[in-house]
Amino acid sequence: MRELEEIRERIDIVELISRYIVLKPSGKGYKGRCPFHPDDTPSLYVSPEKGLWHCFGCGAGGDAIGFLMRIERIGFREALERLAAELGIELKRSGEREELFKVNAAAEAFFREALRSPAGGRAQEYLLSRGIGGDAWDRYGIGYAPESGSALIEAISRLGLPLLEKLGLVVKGERGYRDRFVDRVIFPIRDELGRTVAFAGRTLSGAEPKYLNSPNTPLFQKGTLLYGMDIAKEAIRASGRAVLVEGYTDVIALQQAGIPEAVCSMGTALTESQARRIARYARKVVLAYDADAAGEASALRGIGILLEAGLEVRVAPLPAGQDPDSLVRERGVAAIRAIIAEAIPFQDFIFELLPRRFDLGKLKGKEEALGLLRSLWENLRSPLLRREIARKAALLLEVPEEEVWKALGGKISWKVSEEEEEGFGPEELVLKFMLEGKLGAEKISQLSPEDFSPAYRRIASLWLERAGRGEVPEPASISPELPPEDQAVISRLVLNEISFADEDKALEEAWRKFFVLPKLERRMRELKEEIGRCEELGDRDRVEKLMGEYMDLCRSRAKVLRGGI
Ligand code: UTP
Ligand code: MN
Repeated sequence: MRELEEIRERIDIVELISRYIVLKPSGKGYKGRCPFHPDDTPSLYVSPEKGLWHCFGCGAGGDAIGFLMRIERIGFREALERLAAELGIELKRSGEREELFKVNAAAEAFFREALRSPAGGRAQEYLLSRGIGGDAWDRYGIGYAPESGSALIEAISRLGLPLLEKLGLVVKGERGYRDRFVDRVIFPIRDELGRTVAFAGRTLSGAEPKYLNSPNTPLFQKGTLLYGMDIAKEAIRASGRAVLVEGYTDVIALQQAGIPEAVCSMGTALTESQARRIARYARKVVLAYDADAAGEASALRGIGILLEAGLEVRVAPLPAGQDPDSLVRERGVAAIRAIIAEAIPFQDFIFELLPRRFDLGKLKGKEEALGLLRSLWENLRSPLLRREIARKAALLLEVPEEEVWKALGGKISWKVSEEEEEGFGPEELVLKFMLEGKLGAEKISQLSPEDFSPAYRRIASLWLERAGRGEVPEPASISPELPPEDQAVISRLVLNEISFADEDKALEEAWRKFFVLPKLERRMRELKEEIGRCEELGDRDRVEKLMGEYMDLCRSRAKVLRGGI
């Protein structure tokens, strides 16, 4: 496919991957923490030169398109479409997704206009009274869904009612389609690229629910997105810190107060997928949840999930009854900034909460407290942190430390994950040299896919087939045609920068061990069998001759193993 070639050539793999994780220069490429497994050390390597990435921790790897497919959990076609759209390359059949985005954009434009129209008067007043002014209306695309209940349909149904229904913008009732959002202030929910994927409508009249959200649609799955991330991600990447709040208006209030790293999980409990999204950009998270019982419960749940995603977690101590938005309005920008800056480590938050929540003078209270700690225990990766928590719990509960360890189910372990040396065998080296175009025409002409073990055969076969047509195949260009496990093999081989004392010598040695030696040994086995048969037949002359050949092969074999010629 022509477009595929063009996309591959023009896409900047480093820029693409660094939208999701922090990349730091390393050698000829970049390194970062792998988003596909819990990664404490940066194990993901990106080579702009080769257009490939590989994680030396979990073994995942491939090209830019493969990365996008994996991280966004989308198919090949959709990954292509997204990249093509960004690069301004036209793909045949642009797909329904694009249509859906267009409809959402049209709906957003309609709501925004309605807010500024006379009908939007009450909504305007409401927003202004909450400190959300005209600049914010533009920045966040805030709008108003009129009272009539069919205003949106009248305005944009020409784009196709079935599409509007798919997006949850309209609902089908007994008397036909009606607008979903009626007399509500509209907050567009955007993906990380800033495209509107859903809407939230806050009631103006006190109708339930307070916030009505779009249902799950092909563009929007609750629990995978964080509101505000499109604006926050650059700031989060720069500071390494995200500020996690509960509500839409908290995000807007904080971002306006000079804390651009604010995002929210939209009321529902934080999901693992959202935590991983944060971990792509940040190392640390400050939780600034509402200071009420519900907020505290959400914070406790959130802490476990954030720790599991490998994040360092702090909690901002909001005054009782406040949320970040109300705090900004009541006490001003400086106060909220100070509170975020003074966020305490999550364990301090927990140890402050335990005596409030449980009656620690009684056995039952102690057990409940231990139960709460146990729910976090597994997610504590750091042995030092476990020790600190066990010690604090022992003091607080007046229980011997060993008992705490036992109760929490953690043996005292100092697991050191020793990175295994990435040693390549001869077969892998030959494949690596081949993929890098270093093997030389003579050797290539001798090779066939059957020389390779099944794990490498598909790759070798495709490469040799292309080479047979006179091409010099690039690893990045054969990669997408292969299954993911093969792509990972390619990236692992190609991106492992091995520094050879003498590369030519290493190549020759690998070649001898991989290609020459097995053939020698096979011939030796054949000879041995034939010698046996000839001996039975008493054919002494032939035995002599074969023995001569056998001894030659033995000598050659010894040389190969020693590394001579
Ligand atoms: P809150 O009830 O704390 O509201 O819900 P809030 O953000 O402080 O709202 P204001 O200040 O009264 O306008 C927190 C978040 O939970 C989600 C929304 O994302 C909200 O911002 N939520 C809440 C809903 O999705 N639906 C609801 O009915 C209520
Ligand atoms: Mn609020």
